[in-house]
Amino acid sequence: MSYTHEDLAELQAKSLKMQGHIRRQTFSPEMEKSLRRFSSWEVSELIFKVNQSTFRGRLAADPSLPSGEVEEDGRQRWYTLDEINEIRRRMKVNRRSLMPKRPANKRAFRAAIANFKGGAGKSTVALHFAHAAALDGYRVLVVDFDPQATLSHSMGLNDVAEDYTVWGIMARDLIRETDRMNSASVAAESGVQLPTRKLPDSIRDMGLGELRNTDFIKPTAWSAIDIVPSCANAAFVEFASAQYRHLNPEWSFFAAVSRYLDSIPADAYDLVIFDCPPAIGYQSMNAVFAADMLYIPSGPGYWEYDSTTSFIGQLAEALEDLSHGFPAGNLKLPKVFTDIRFLMTRYEPGNDLHRAMFDAFRKVFEGHVAEHPIEMTRAVEQSGRFLSSVYEIDYRDMTRETWRRARATFDQAYEEFRDTILKAWDQLEDEA
Ligand SMILES: Nc1ncnc2c1ncn2[C@@H]1O[C@H](COP(=O)(O)OP(=O)(O)OP(=O)(O)O)[C@@H](O)[C@H]1O
Ligand SMILES: [Mg+2]
Repeated sequence: MSYTHEDLAELQAKSLKMQGHIRRQTFSPEMEKSLRRFSSWEVSELIFKVNQSTFRGRLAADPSLPSGEVEEDGRQRWYTLDEINEIRRRMKVNRRSLMPKRPANKRAFRAAIANFKGGAGKSTVALHFAHAAALDGYRVLVVDFDPQATLSHSMGLNDVAEDYTVWGIMARDLIRETDRMNSASVAAESGVQLPTRKLPDSIRDMGLGELRNTDFIKPTAWSAIDIVPSCANAAFVEFASAQYRHLNPEWSFFAAVSRYLDSIPADAYDLVIFDCPPAIGYQSMNAVFAADMLYIPSGPGYWEYDSTTSFIGQLAEALEDLSHGFPAGNLKLPKVFTDIRFLMTRYEPGNDLHRAMFDAFRKVFEGHVAEHPIEMTRAVEQSGRFLSSVYEIDYRDMTRETWRRARATFDQAYEEFRDTILKAWDQLEDEA
């Protein structure tokens, strides 16, 4: 037998048909992902952390507050995310505001979920943290840097044109930075006219230079979450970026997304979460460079420890390389993070080997290890079958105990993540 790229293409075509079928079954008939309502038990005890009867009392006392909807199973009321957020803005419990903490005059905090190890749990962590943060009242932008587009697909974005991905942001940045450098060298008072850097027409003709900031941002089924999505074009993006870098060697390619995020209004979002690809490359370096904090998920096995170790080594080298050889402009080099943390994933507390590995992580990385690992749970597999997170799955569709434990492990890990951010947020420069 002999096979070529044509056979691969044929296998893929079959697979895509199946994918479409799965999406039609799991999302609404229009293939649009939608978000369920949340019960008054979830809203009071899990989201606002107030006693359920206190919460019901407050709602009863003020009929102008959203009243949700009663579903078939009877007594509970179910609220949309927008209703929850309206209640959050308007209700106080024991004079305590339900709004999440956010320092004044700061831009959104940027956290990269990164590890070059494949399957470490990056996308699962990014998805669950984004959902947990949205339920906590934050406005979230997620950036999918991975051309596997796992996060984009799980957030319901399937047909994304490549112009509107991180690649588009990078290509636009190349055009704009090259123009800026050219006009700066003409304007230089030294009298020495620097050579003009030329970009081929083929790049300018793509029209990417004219794209607006908002063109890259798409809404999701969660009103509090937007996404800069990705699409499957891995090799292409990395090849194209290498070629572009060659066209203008002074272009600080790794800072493209950072510059893009700097140009978004400081108060548009609270948190920006990056899902990174399992490789070192142009996209992952952009993610790391734009991040205020690195959160590094790792599985509990020895080989995962091994590759996490090599990840931080490669990253250290790559960041060191970037800190020389580029015209500084307004870049701050070397890159500084407010925090670097390791998060153990797929952890089984009853497994001696996992416990030993967790201890080893703590011994080696000391204060850099998140205290709450994310436990291995069937709920991730079950909710993943519906292209959803544990937060999105209705607990009535699963064994209640499995759902609660899964939710608790993600909640604890998220709360630690949030508290780490709250400690570091003040270190960001004030916005004018
Ligand atoms: N806490 C968990 N419990 C059970 N299964 C999990 C858990 N976390 C992740 N998984 C499973 O492990 C697999 C890999 O997870 P995920 O896709 O999040 O990793 P990744 O690091 O993003 O992978 P890649 O490097 O390919 O981007 C998935 O099948 C996911 O469902
Ligand atoms: Mg992933």
